Amino acid sequence: MVAESSQAQIDALLARLNPPQQEAVTHGDGPLLIFAGAGSGKTRVLTARIAYLIASRRVWPDRLLAVTFTNKAAREMRGRVEALVGEGAEKMWVGTFHSTAVKILRREAQRIGIRSSFVIFDEDDTRAALKRVLDELRLDPSGRRTSPTAATRTRSCAACTSHTKRRCAARAGSTSTI
Ligand SMILES: Nc1ncnc2c1ncn2[C@@H]1O[C@H](COP(=O)(O)OP(=O)(O)OP(=O)(O)O)[C@@H](O)[C@H]1O
Ligand SMILES: [Mg+2]
Repeated sequence: MVAESSQAQIDALLARLNPPQQEAVTHGDGPLLIFAGAGSGKTRVLTARIAYLIASRRVWPDRLLAVTFTNKAAREMRGRVEALVGEGAEKMWVGTFHSTAVKILRREAQRIGIRSSFVIFDEDDTRAALKRVLDELRLDPSGRRTSPTAATRTRSCAACTSHTKRRCAARAGSTSTI
């Protein structure tokens, strides 16, 4: 049973849409693909559907997730949802694939044994970190070992089985000579 004020809200919402858009917005359970051209009213449908789910199905805004490809699209989506839904819209999950995934990872970090303050490296950070590791291990990027001790150790390891080789490498790592 939908309250009178909500029904008025829903009627106003649907009045802004053409019949195919109304059909999409009022679609029942299960997945729905909206396949339409540029500027044809897809975002209007998505934002109206969000407002419709909140008004007619009493879905909590924080149980709704809207994912976009770009930050610009996410900003636009949030702005348009806020204009339609008003208070409560800020509780909704609206973001790009990346920002949404990071938000989930930070929230659930403890469950997978990582710190929620983890840092994501961009390409420059990754290169700098790899360079530091190579420097510390005294390896040059071509893979040659520059430490004479390491070279000797590698030669002596050449005859090892892969199992003992791993152990040699682990032992060498613990003394920081490789
Ligand atoms: N049924 C409608 N009646 C009047 N205006 C509409 C209707 N549907 C969409 N519009 C208007 O048309 C414009 C384009 O709509 P919308 O942004 O939803 O399209 P889109 O398909 O998401 O566009 P894009 O491909 O650029 O993402 C907007 O200004 C929107 O308000
Ligand atoms: Mg759009």
